[in-house]
Amino acid sequence: MKVAVLGAAGGIGQALALLLKLNLPKGSDLALYDIAPVTPGVAVDISHIPTAVNAKGYAGEDPTPALEGADLVLISAGVARKPGMDRADLFNVNAGIIRNLVGKVAEVAPTACIGVITNPVNTTVAIAAEVLKNAGVYDKNKLFGVTTLDVIRSETFIAEAKGLSPEQVKINVIGGHSGVTILPLLSQVEGVSFTDEEIASLTHRIQNAGTEVVEAKAGGGSATLSMAQAACRFGLSVVRALQGEKGVVECAYVEGAGEHTRFFAQPVELGVNGVENILSYGALSDFEKQALDGMLETLSGDISKGEAFVNG
Ligand SMILES: NC(=O)c1ccc[n+]([C@@H]2O[C@H](COP(=O)([O-])OP(=O)(O)OC[C@H]3O[C@@H](n4cnc5c(N)ncnc54)[C@H](O)[C@@H]3O)[C@@H](O)[C@H]2O)c1
Repeated sequence: MKVAVLGAAGGIGQALALLLKLNLPKGSDLALYDIAPVTPGVAVDISHIPTAVNAKGYAGEDPTPALEGADLVLISAGVARKPGMDRADLFNVNAGIIRNLVGKVAEVAPTACIGVITNPVNTTVAIAAEVLKNAGVYDKNKLFGVTTLDVIRSETFIAEAKGLSPEQVKINVIGGHSGVTILPLLSQVEGVSFTDEEIASLTHRIQNAGTEVVEAKAGGGSATLSMAQAACRFGLSVVRALQGEKGVVECAYVEGAGEHTRFFAQPVELGVNGVENILSYGALSDFEKQALDGMLETLSGDISKGEAFVNG
């Protein structure tokens, strides 16, 4: 397996590179690319860790050597939020970066699975899809918006609220990846029940957890370490599935049947070709139904913005 990280010198990218160096299967290749000149050094640095994962770093304008032969490309290149900004404020800078980088993936590694971390994910995934489509290589089963951070935050906050061990908590988070579009399905968490107040406050905390980090970092950036762990969990799941393991399931923002919106975060079974099956997320509570109805206009607006960015 070859995994490429684009944006590898950044806060997320460096931590993700470290986690992948520690956790990818033996014999994997890890390619680190960033415009920042430090990137080959990041690769040299982690290459001193004694695991059988071969790390190489590439800097400069051209990601081609990092992308050659890649099975999975994880993209965290872009700018991160500062206090007072929401994910939509990142649009102008990050949209162009995603368009260019995904254009290169289309050219050099057209059959790779792509995980988009760069915000606003609701929109950057739509941009990536249109770029791949225009290049004639779009496979909707291989393009993912990485929403795993919403899942791991939910697991942590539920465990905290209920005195459980976080490893015991399993939850689906559906919709999108910003504000009201993030919908944790608390009604389905096995073995716990919540009061209406708990549901309202936990949902609100999960939806705004990114802002909690942005404010606590006081101008120094947004979530990087927890995001890196989330992207590593997602990436390792994709790799295990690509290698033939059955029954690997993650929530991700993918193009499904379009029941609600063209792209929608939902549980998917991964396989040797990316998404193997879109799984049902089960019955929703009244609170969740209302939240789902309430998010759709925002989510479809975010998606249209991405489509229009590419196609005019
Ligand atoms: N999906 C999520 O849950 C989630 C969570 C947190 C942050 N994010 C997003 O991830 C992105 C990165 O966050 P970060 O904290 O690592 O930011 P950062 O500023 O620390 O790192 C970004 C890196 O991207 C690089 N870069 C910029 N343009 C590039 C290009 N054209 N090609 C290659 N590299 C390029 C920069 O040099 C930098 O090293 C942001 O958009 C942020 O909003 C997503």
